[in-house]
Amino acid sequence: MDKLVIEGGSPLSGTIRIHGAKNAALPILAACLLAEGQFKLSNVPHLLDIEVMLNILGRLGSKCKHELESVTVDTASANSFHVPEDLMKQMRSSIFLMGPLLARFGEVTIYQPGGCAIGERKIDLHLRGLQALGAEIDESDQKIHCKASRLVGADIHLDFASVGATENIMMAAATASGTTVLSNAAREPEIQDLQNFLNSMGANIIGAGTDTITIHGVEKLQPCQYEIIPDRIVAGTVMIAAAATRGQVTLTHCNPSHLSSLIHVLKRAGVQTSICNDIMTVSCMARPKAVERIVTSPYPSFPTDLQSQVMVLLSLADGFSIMKETVFEGRFKHVEELCRMGADITTDLNCAFIRGVQRIYGATVEATDLRAGAALVIAGLAAQGTTIVEQVHHIDRGYDRIEKMFQGLGARMMRHSPVTKPLDLAN
Ligand code: EPZ
Repeated sequence: MDKLVIEGGSPLSGTIRIHGAKNAALPILAACLLAEGQFKLSNVPHLLDIEVMLNILGRLGSKCKHELESVTVDTASANSFHVPEDLMKQMRSSIFLMGPLLARFGEVTIYQPGGCAIGERKIDLHLRGLQALGAEIDESDQKIHCKASRLVGADIHLDFASVGATENIMMAAATASGTTVLSNAAREPEIQDLQNFLNSMGANIIGAGTDTITIHGVEKLQPCQYEIIPDRIVAGTVMIAAAATRGQVTLTHCNPSHLSSLIHVLKRAGVQTSICNDIMTVSCMARPKAVERIVTSPYPSFPTDLQSQVMVLLSLADGFSIMKETVFEGRFKHVEELCRMGADITTDLNCAFIRGVQRIYGATVEATDLRAGAALVIAGLAAQGTTIVEQVHHIDRGYDRIEKMFQGLGARMMRHSPVTKPLDLAN
């Protein structure tokens, strides 16, 4: 397993281009199954999760190619609705395939995605939404089988503004007969990107970005070309790293309007930001100030995906901060590792109490999940001494070569891959 070795203590400085959004690209890749033919997607990052999704599309019969930041997907030859168990286990987001496969083949079999490091990750809202559209669902402890001779538009209310459930229902309803009105829908920018992509295919959807999305079902969709939006969580991670190392960093090809809640928190911490179109500069020349209380919740509130990263900044701030996590029940796994680096954080249920310290120190730490791993990288960059981050594959799911990202900003950081045995050419 790869490790990252980080020599901390130097302020980040320079300019970085933000890559395309993982959480927009994944549902959009799944949505390609809704039409037959060749799609051309641009600004698609090289991430483990993207490669797994392309693998699954390939195993379902599509032809996929990922060159530089462009992906071509030809779904004309798609011929299966059984999502392979081994790939489903690698990435629970394969759940996004239910809607498109049900719409295309009238049937889909997936494996129970199960929970992960950050929580139980239930899918009841996905299943209830598809049932409302006419699907019959047969669940066993291992598999989920869905059938629908035809999908019919319906009024659906989500008990929680689930991103994935919103996306699955949008995709299933796009070619259903009649209209679907989805209320208490998630409002994330990735939902808006999916709506724009589906409408580029000929769908008739309005309301993404608000809590009510109306999907007028259409007969047929066509392949299209599309550019994925920038990754707001990668951008936010870089912004927080710039502040935590008291540096100055300019981000290009980002969308500052997707980061308003983070910009607000950084300003409260005394971090300067300046914006000009898709360019944003972040600088922090003095010790950050504590932020009394931050609560994560669905967009446009503070994103759960930046909770662990901003906790590193608060760990170095002057004063006492409280972080409340309301989206995932298990998203404090980074706290123990940060405390091993000298942070002063205690937790009680879904609240973390952070007393800022003057400095944290390098240590050997373990990434438990994608964003916790990113937080530990930020901690290593800000710490005094050397930090080794293990289980880096978690981080590679959502950051395209994170060491290259930060090396380009002056970080002293290397990736160590286990020495692979030389190929035995004898046999
Ligand atoms: C998406 O996950 C993102 N993943 C997550 O990003 C992100 O943290 C999350 O949305 C919230 O913004 C992708 O887009 C691939 P949810 P998703 O459905 O769709 C509960 C990252 O780091 N829930 O909004 O799985 C669930 O248990 C990842 O990039 C149900 O109860 O999130 C959780 O507590 C991590 N029943 C909460 O809702 C359901 O049917 C939020 O889940 C579905 C969800």
